[in-house]
Amino acid sequence: MTKGLRWFILFLLFVSSVAAQNSTELYRGRRKALLKKIGRNNMAIFKAAPVARRNGDVDYEYRQDSDFYYLTGFEEPGAILVLSPRGIYVRDESKFVKEILFLRPRDPHMEIWQGYRLGVERAKEKLGVQAALPIDRFEDYLTAILGRVDTLYIKTSRVKLDEPLSKEMEFIKRARERLYDFTVASPGKLLTPMREIKSEAELALLQKAIDITCEAHREAMKAARPGMFEYQLEAVIEYVFKKNGSERPGFPSIIGSGPNSCILHYNTNRRRMQKGDMVVMDIGAEYGMYTADVTRTIPVNGKFSKAQREIYNIVLEAQNAGIAAAKVGAPFGAPAQAAVRKVVEGLIRLGILKGDVQTNIQNGRYRAFFMHGTSHHIGLDVHDVSTYRPLKPNMIITVEPGIYISEATGREHGVPKKYWNIGVRIEDDVLITEEGPKILSAGAPRTIEAIEKMMSKSSTIF
Ligand code: GLY
Ligand code: MN
Ligand code: MN
Repeated sequence: MTKGLRWFILFLLFVSSVAAQNSTELYRGRRKALLKKIGRNNMAIFKAAPVARRNGDVDYEYRQDSDFYYLTGFEEPGAILVLSPRGIYVRDESKFVKEILFLRPRDPHMEIWQGYRLGVERAKEKLGVQAALPIDRFEDYLTAILGRVDTLYIKTSRVKLDEPLSKEMEFIKRARERLYDFTVASPGKLLTPMREIKSEAELALLQKAIDITCEAHREAMKAARPGMFEYQLEAVIEYVFKKNGSERPGFPSIIGSGPNSCILHYNTNRRRMQKGDMVVMDIGAEYGMYTADVTRTIPVNGKFSKAQREIYNIVLEAQNAGIAAAKVGAPFGAPAQAAVRKVVEGLIRLGILKGDVQTNIQNGRYRAFFMHGTSHHIGLDVHDVSTYRPLKPNMIITVEPGIYISEATGREHGVPKKYWNIGVRIEDDVLITEEGPKILSAGAPRTIEAIEKMMSKSSTIF
C-alpha cells in the first residue's frame, strides 16, 4: 500500500466515524428534547415494531416503528425504549439514568439464521443511550419503576370491546392491577409536534426520496404504451427505486389505468392498459426511512384526448391554487379549500355540476367526483403524524386534488359518456417556507405539454 493510499483510507475512516457520531447525536438530541416534555413524574415507553408472520417460517419484510426509529435510529425488532425524566436506577451500572434501551442480546446461533444483532454491549456506544439491558429484563425493571409514575405515555392500538386485548393493553392492564393505577396517554401528544417539523437532515432524506420518485415517474412516462400491463409499469418504477438505493416503496404503488384510475387506493396492478386509458401513478420511494408521495396521471398512448385535457387542466388549476395557499400561518385546510373551489368551478364550466359555486361547495355535491382530502404531511410515514395546526416553516405536505368519474358515477350523475373512466390525481410534495411554498417534486413533468414531451422519448428500461 502506498503512503498516499494509507492516508486516504485513514481519512475515510475518520469521516465515517464523524458521520456515525453525528447521527448518534441526532437521536440523542431528540430523546433529550422529548425527556424535557414528558414531565418529572411521568414516563414514556416506545416499542420496536413487532415481526409479522406471513406463513410457516416466513415473515413479512420488517420495517421499524416510526416513533421508535425517530428516537433511536435502531432498526432491529425486539427492543423497547424507556424514558424517565426522574431517572431509573440501573443496578448493573450503579447509577441513575433517564433512558434505557432494552434489546435482544447477541446470539451466534440465531444470527446465522436471522442476521447480525447489535447486542447489549455495543448499544451504548452505537446508539448513544445512557443504558442498555437485555430485553428479558424489561418487566423486572418496570415493576420497580411504574409504581412511581403518574402518566405513562405509550402507544396503544384502538380498543374494541369485543376483541381480545392487544399486547400493549394486556401489559397496561396487568401493570395497573398489580402495581398502581397510573394514567395512560398517547406519546403522539408530545412527539407529533416534533416529527411534524423537519430538520435539515430529514429534509435531505426526503428530497432524495422525492428525487428518486420523480426519476421513476419520468421513466414510467417514457415506458408507458398501450398493451403493457400495469404491473410492468410498476416494475419500471420500482426498478428505478431500488437502483437508486431506496429500501422499499413507502406504500404499495398505485398504477390504475382506465376504470382503475377511479379507484383511489387501487394497487392490484394486473390490468392490461389500452389505447385511450388514463393511468394514475401514485408512488413514493422510501429512502433512509423517509417516504415521498407523488402522483402523475398520463394518457397511456402519450397524447391527451380533448375530454382528458379538460378534466386534467381543472385538476392542475386546483392543484396550483392549493399549492399557492400553502403559506406560513395559513390553516392546515387552506390548500384544500382553494383546491375544492377550483374543482367546483371547473366542473360547473363543463356542465357536470349545476348551479353556483358557493352552493355546490356548501352542499358537498362535488364529493361525488373529488372524495378525498387534499393534503397530509409526509415523513417517516406516508400519511405522517399531524397536529393539523396552521402551517409552519419546514413542514412538508402533499397537495393532491383529483377528479374521478367512474362509469357508475357518470351514469348516476348524468355525466356525458366522453368523461367516463377518467380519473385524474396530481400530487406534489411541498415544503413550507417563509419565502412561500416550494415544490420539492418539480422533477416529475406535470403540465400536459411536459408530460407529452417526456412520453415522446423512448425508454431504455422497458
Ligand atoms: N399515496 C396515498 C396518498 O396519496 O395519500
Ligand atoms: Mn399519493
Ligand atoms: Mn398523498
